[in-house]
Amino acid sequence: MNKHILLTPLTIGNQTINNRLIVAPMAGVTDNPFRRLAKSFGAGHAISEMIIADTALYARQKSLYRANFTGEIAPISAQVAGAEPDKLAQAVRFQVENGACIVDINMGCPTKKVCRKLSGSALLQDLDLVKKLLDSAVESVANLGVPITLKTRLGFANGQENILTVAKIAENAGISALAIHGRTREDFYTGNARYELIKTVKETTNMPIIVNGDIDTPQKAKWVQEYTGADAVMIGRAGQGRPWIFREIAHYLATGEMLAPPTLGELREIVLNHLDELYQFYGEYSGCRIARKHIAWYTGGLTNANAFREAMYHEETTCGQYKVVDEFFKTTQMSK
Ligand SMILES: Cc1cc2nc3c(=O)[nH]c(=O)nc-3n(C[C@H](O)[C@H](O)[C@H](O)COP(=O)(O)O)c2cc1C
Repeated sequence: MNKHILLTPLTIGNQTINNRLIVAPMAGVTDNPFRRLAKSFGAGHAISEMIIADTALYARQKSLYRANFTGEIAPISAQVAGAEPDKLAQAVRFQVENGACIVDINMGCPTKKVCRKLSGSALLQDLDLVKKLLDSAVESVANLGVPITLKTRLGFANGQENILTVAKIAENAGISALAIHGRTREDFYTGNARYELIKTVKETTNMPIIVNGDIDTPQKAKWVQEYTGADAVMIGRAGQGRPWIFREIAHYLATGEMLAPPTLGELREIVLNHLDELYQFYGEYSGCRIARKHIAWYTGGLTNANAFREAMYHEETTCGQYKVVDEFFKTTQMSK
């Protein structure tokens, strides 16, 4: 039997990823420890959390964490966001100097912080600027052969989806792959992701197309890829507290059968190892705080989770936090 296309390698510019199951960039979530974890569960590729194209911010601790790719499986893809062509080019070079083999441009972020500066998805209102930014980014590392990819949405406003034009601009600029979240900026995260236009983009362009939005089961991953003809699928929120979703998808695509979820014992091991990695990466103070949301996601399907989380949030040290999590796993059960 032929392998499903999502389980085969994909070439992005001069780089090749092992399979076509990609971790979506999520600021505050898909940090270095999470990306390594997702790859250990079979994700073929992962994109780092964005850094804003502003040299004044690069020395900040948050940017340093975001531009730290230590221990990651190559090829490393790092994301940047910005609205000024020169600054964006600088940010691209900064990420390449940090070890990125692919740089991804974010034109999909809907949040105010990014949009107020007319970057992220707000840029979709100004296609001349989109062209200038992409040309500048591609040009900035053309001598090194570093592929530039783009992540965006269907458009800014509903009824004015301009992804077909944006895709053409991207292709002409030399963008090596295009990831599309099947929503507009106006949709934010509401309603359902729409895949029709992504199918049309795939039919009318030649660069690899990555479909994104609401892919949360192996069956959906298979269906969305087959419906759109996309070259890869990208998964964000469904991986929160469930980084093994990549192995579940791979298993389903290979066998047609659903893999059993991790046992309680395996879950405990995954969580405790993830905590260790977070503590090592962020240190005592930030490690403890950043771990909280992951712990909350992981324990969502366990008995007595609400009371446990309340107590866990009050732990102020990594040592205390690790201990209460370990203890909790001795008493809880899977709730379904
Ligand atoms: C908490 C959070 C942070 C995100 N941060 C980024 C980001 O830094 N860059 C980006 O391009 N998209 C970002 N996104 C969008 C995701 O990459 C993805 O496009 C979106 O969540 C839809 O995919 P999903 O339905 O699989 O989650 C973020 C989404 C969430 C929920």
